[in-house]
Amino acid sequence: MRNPLRDPQDRRLPRIPEPCALVIFGVTGDLSRKKLIPAVYDLANRGLLPPGFVVLGFARRDWGDGDFESLAYEAAKKGARTPWREDVWARLAENIKFVAGSFDDDAAFDTLASSLDELRASHGITGNAAFYFSIPPVAFPIVLKQLARTGMADNETSGGWRRVVVEKPFGYDMATAKELNRLVDSVFTADDVFRIDHYLGKETVQNILALRFANSLFEPVWNSKYVDHVQITMAEDVGIGTRAGFYDGAGAARDVLQNHLLQLMAMFAMEEPTSFDPSEIRAEKLKVLKAISVPKDIAADTVRGQYLQGWVAGERAVGYLEEKNIPAESTTETYVAVKLAIQNRRWAGVPFYVRCGKRLPRRVTEIAIVFKKAPHLPFDPADVEMLGHNQLVIRVQPDEGMVLKFGSKVPGTTMEVRDIAMDFQYGEAFTESSPEAYERLVLDVLVGDRTLFPDAAEVEQSWAVIDPLEEAWAGTTPEPYRAGEWGPRAADELLVREGRTWRRA
Ligand code: BG6
Repeated sequence: MRNPLRDPQDRRLPRIPEPCALVIFGVTGDLSRKKLIPAVYDLANRGLLPPGFVVLGFARRDWGDGDFESLAYEAAKKGARTPWREDVWARLAENIKFVAGSFDDDAAFDTLASSLDELRASHGITGNAAFYFSIPPVAFPIVLKQLARTGMADNETSGGWRRVVVEKPFGYDMATAKELNRLVDSVFTADDVFRIDHYLGKETVQNILALRFANSLFEPVWNSKYVDHVQITMAEDVGIGTRAGFYDGAGAARDVLQNHLLQLMAMFAMEEPTSFDPSEIRAEKLKVLKAISVPKDIAADTVRGQYLQGWVAGERAVGYLEEKNIPAESTTETYVAVKLAIQNRRWAGVPFYVRCGKRLPRRVTEIAIVFKKAPHLPFDPADVEMLGHNQLVIRVQPDEGMVLKFGSKVPGTTMEVRDIAMDFQYGEAFTESSPEAYERLVLDVLVGDRTLFPDAAEVEQSWAVIDPLEEAWAGTTPEPYRAGEWGPRAADELLVREGRTWRRA
């Protein structure tokens, strides 16, 4: 992210990468079809890709360029956010290439290396290439080895920049994350490693920085003096879909708490960075992650759940154990609620209740800041019965925006006060459209902007939060909840016994 204060002219110029190649490993997979290829099309459609931009797909299938192009066409058309234009696609398609091979196939990687060399001459991509790992983590070592062996990871000999983009999950725990970091760093230099957390590509998540640091209104109350507690919710109505292989054994904490939710918490709670330089923002987030403490009594202050069959949005949903390829005795959690704390002066004593789950009633991600009640209310108690806590709710998705809840006088001849809501919606306030998170992040990789990418230390520190939870949960059975309900009853009790309730998001 450029600092608009530092560089006012530049702000209006679109960021266009230098000519380059985007090499996608695992190009026929889900992520590539649903997110990456549509993101590339949207970037092309917005005129944000340079002439001489090439997509090189690498996957096991025995295909030629033509087959790959038709898969990419279908994927782009289905997933594009911007209007469909055949002429844009036709231009892009001229530069879509495919290399078939498996990851242990030296010859295929030699072909990939020579394709990149040829493109240097034919498309003028001057050696610039980003390698996108849209593959299972077990395949990372072999692909890294191949990139090192063929010299493809080498900035010096390639005559341009070489970057690697690594998808989550980044490790399975702290030890595996460290090992993975060591491995990636042995092939690429640290500045060329882009670890994707797609939540940071969401407009509303970046808006936390604008909200806090561009205004004077919120910062004075952003601390334990005024905040009673914070609730962070990531609810999904979907189940695990076809991802049993990845999800089972991993579970909700590793899937989204370790990354998306801890990143949201860090952005929400961090101190003001001295500038928007990547290193400054990362340093502030890291301080928060280091200060997060898990509950002393993990059994009492966390809840793991697993969905049973039920109904979601009028449709029947099978239980987790009935999902395809899930072992009947699986104890993987599909829901987590946890009470975290941040041990620093700003947040001492403020509980952060964080929850995430699949097969909940609806898809919603939000941060709710629940403020303390006014220290004194000079009203007749009957007049303020309907006055709750002031709340500021940052709606990450859907209906991106913010709601401020506060008390207001009810029209009439009494002094009755009741909660009302002031609503800001992105869709209404702005005519500009938001890029999809992946569109934003792919562009950031190509222009070399690391601001929205967590670094190795952040990833490892996030595991330091998760590891003790996983250790304490080992061998326990998750609490059941019906698909279509807001998680297990124990999650409600977690707040009720502290005199609080979850916001019905
Ligand atoms: C992914 C998780 O990182 O995020 C998925 O692996 C989850 O399990 C997804 O469904 C949610 O992303 P979004 O952008 O739809 O909230």
